[in-house]
Amino acid sequence: MAALDKILTVDEMKAKARRSVPKMFFEYADSGSYTEGTYRDNESDFGKISLKQKVAVNLENRNLKTRMLGNEITMPVAIAPAATGGMQIADGEIKAARAAEKYGIPFTLSTMSVCSIEDVAENTTAPFWFQLYVMRDRGFIERLIDRAKAAKCSALVLTMDLQILGQRHKDIKNGLATPPKLNAYSVWQMMQHPIWCARMLGTKRHTFRNIVGHVSGDHDLASLSAWTSSQFDPALDWADVKWVKKRFDGPVIVKGVLDPDDAQAAIDNGADAIVVSNHGGRQLDGAPSTIRVLPEIVDRVGHKTEVYLDSGIRSGQDVLKAMAFGAKGTFIGRPMLYGLGAGGEAGVTRVLDILRKELDTTMALCGERDILNVGLHNIYSNDIPPRNAPVARGA
Ligand SMILES: Cc1cc2nc3c(=O)[nH]c(=O)nc-3n(C[C@H](O)[C@H](O)[C@H](O)COP(=O)(O)O)c2cc1C
Repeated sequence: MAALDKILTVDEMKAKARRSVPKMFFEYADSGSYTEGTYRDNESDFGKISLKQKVAVNLENRNLKTRMLGNEITMPVAIAPAATGGMQIADGEIKAARAAEKYGIPFTLSTMSVCSIEDVAENTTAPFWFQLYVMRDRGFIERLIDRAKAAKCSALVLTMDLQILGQRHKDIKNGLATPPKLNAYSVWQMMQHPIWCARMLGTKRHTFRNIVGHVSGDHDLASLSAWTSSQFDPALDWADVKWVKKRFDGPVIVKGVLDPDDAQAAIDNGADAIVVSNHGGRQLDGAPSTIRVLPEIVDRVGHKTEVYLDSGIRSGQDVLKAMAFGAKGTFIGRPMLYGLGAGGEAGVTRVLDILRKELDTTMALCGERDILNVGLHNIYSNDIPPRNAPVARGA
């Protein structure tokens, strides 16, 4: 197996994670909804954008530092919230949060994480961001927001694109649908990975610890999963952004926006920033890639708020392209999960090293010394067809 320092790309990290993590958990990360068309487009659309090479520019003293929500970060990459990071490797969310903290970038903990808000707070020192799914049980959500406040989370990331769960076929086939079906096949999958199993046996963190013990009723894992999936609130609307912001009394980032009118509505209802996201292609299959809609959203609201992007970032080049189109920062979901699966905290750190090096080299070869100066002049922006233009078949 490749040592982490021999791994040169996120794709190679993914291959190592595939070998290290039981199939059902690896495929939980490596899946999109239905045909996975949006999941694929997120990645491939970045490849359609060409970069402008510039030469004879002084490239000394380059800078990747920037700000998200006013805080200085060492590069424009944040860790996206991802459910069950703690199933890619034992205590996964704590490990990813530590890697982010040491790197000086934001870490976002999912509502559906294995390690709880308190677990992460006890094992890190930098403030982190907490991602909120609004559920029908508003008493539980109020307590969750209060717990995030008590843990000194510095922002809430409010996810708006999961009122209804998109279907990922692999999860059903692997028995990961809710409630989970632990059958002979899934147990066999886990036993193929003795190191993974040994680490899991060494931790007490095996379930959704933001939820267990915090909702009424006596739940085992199966009934808890059923409770959770029945709890995503289909009635969620823009007024809830205001409600959440008032309760949290701090910055709220609205995640899951693909439409300029929605971006505007998020801001009108108090969002402090937005994430252009299609949930990594896990929700509405057939939705456009995020890099394709980013320009129109930046045009509409970029002068009023910070616009971030996730979904499909697999290299520092992708980060640069998103910044060129006007994003003020990016998030990585699967690259972080692959790093965790392949090597825990060191794996996530290696992913960040890879992205950083790629971003720095690409920026320099585009003739830029400062990430803050990257813009449309660094790319051939016509390479991405506008969303409403007919796309020729087979083009
Ligand atoms: C396995 C997995 C679990 C996820 N869980 C959550 C979640 O709990 N909350 C959330 O807001 N987004 C969740 N997401 C979406 C990510 O936050 C992010 O939008 C997406 O992963 C970005 O795309 P990328 O994986 O291509 O980087 C999840 C994504 C994956 C792959």
